[in-house]
Amino acid sequence: MAISRRELFHAGAAALVSSTGLGAAESGMITISPSPKDLETPVGDFINVITPTEHFFVRCHTMTPQVKLADWKLEVTGLVDHPGSLTMADLKKLPHVTMQAVLECAGNGRSFYQPRMPGAQWKFGSVGNAVWTGVRLRDVMAKFGLKKGSTQLLLDGADVPIGKMQDFQRTIPVEKALDPDTILAFEMNGKPLTAEHGFPIRVIAPGWASDSWVKWLQKIDVLDHEFDGFWMKTAYRHPAQHIAPGTAIDPKDMVPVTDLNVKSLIATPDAWAAPGTVTIRGVAWSNTSPVTKVDVSVDGGKSWQPAKLGGKGTKYGFRAFNYVWKAPEGNHVLMARATNAAGQVQPIDPEWNPNGYLYNAAQPRPVTISKVPTSPNAPTDPTTASAPASYKAACTPCHDDHFVAQQRLTRAQWDREVTKMTGWGAEVKAEDRAALLDYLAATFKP
Ligand code: HEC
Repeated sequence: MAISRRELFHAGAAALVSSTGLGAAESGMITISPSPKDLETPVGDFINVITPTEHFFVRCHTMTPQVKLADWKLEVTGLVDHPGSLTMADLKKLPHVTMQAVLECAGNGRSFYQPRMPGAQWKFGSVGNAVWTGVRLRDVMAKFGLKKGSTQLLLDGADVPIGKMQDFQRTIPVEKALDPDTILAFEMNGKPLTAEHGFPIRVIAPGWASDSWVKWLQKIDVLDHEFDGFWMKTAYRHPAQHIAPGTAIDPKDMVPVTDLNVKSLIATPDAWAAPGTVTIRGVAWSNTSPVTKVDVSVDGGKSWQPAKLGGKGTKYGFRAFNYVWKAPEGNHVLMARATNAAGQVQPIDPEWNPNGYLYNAAQPRPVTISKVPTSPNAPTDPTTASAPASYKAACTPCHDDHFVAQQRLTRAQWDREVTKMTGWGAEVKAEDRAALLDYLAATFKP
């Protein structure tokens, strides 16, 4: 198979990863950031309905905590009749539930939005489908007795904030917490959770984006009001209504990200295939309303044909699809578009929002059909080779270049990004700031 520009870039990143000592199992992944660890699954892996754990995307806002089960307990406080805690043995005495559910990062596809915005520049693969085993959150809460008037569960994991950033804490409303499908999982694909995926316990909030699936869970505080920490009040919010791309929006018109959007992803072919019969394969997923239909286009969206859906489907898992195509030689643009039971359809035009969440446009996928595999020219990505000394001193103590080099921002956006990082503890001397901004804006520009 031909190597796309993306894969070439990934191959480079993977080499870097193994030379810096990350596990070999991760070498097939796309590195968004080695530390904090953010890894993306390559598109070719989505021929599987269940994503293998070692190829499941990883998203960590902080360094991965290594929790020891002997020291761990789940503490429940706030508006409950009997505050207290449970050990893993206590928890496992509750009825077990096993289910497939798709986990998707709210920022998946952020890099496709125009205009660009800061953030981890995910493309297709910060999504995966696993088999989760755990206990119902409502069974856990029944042991402590929710008091009348409680509205939110504040979820806190064992992760420790970096610098002066705020602790990653999220709330979910009581209704979602008490939904019989919301579980606290201790197993992923039949094995205990790995550290990256939240050992010993993570929240499974099926149909919702992954910011609510809190990892390394160790504390639940029951509240009767909205929580105003950074990760609820500022991050993970999007406009309640449609806005034109690039429009400024009043924070009061933003609401927390909850439900996923209906979406599909072509796994193969990717960039190249030999002429003849080509089976276009991929997966589709949705929110709490399951996928009912996937249409495929081989002419860039001019015409659409129904794809065949695989299996019976599960409420929250991936649904496989395939479409058999007599592929003529030449350049083509493939697209896939899913529909769910609620009648929601993937849009052709992205629903732009200032933080770049929940991208679900039917993404055009150029493919060359030719006897000889094509090898597209790989344009050179910008590097930090010419960075001023102040960059290294100010910007690399907490993470390496990955986060910086993947951004494509204007000077005004870089200015806000540097302000955000100084708020978190980056030390930029006043006399260095203008030169640092000039460098960032000139090198990592839209
Ligand atoms: C005190 C630690 C620290 C320093 C110093 C620091 N950063 Fe960061 N930065 C972080 C963390 C932590 C993240 C990841 C946050 C996440 O995953 O949500 C991050 C993420 C980013 C991102 C991704 C977008 C985003 O906002 O999450 C960019 C871009 C970035 N940093 C640029 C910089 C630049 C430029 C500097 C130097 C001026 C810098 N950082 C210095 C801690 C730091």
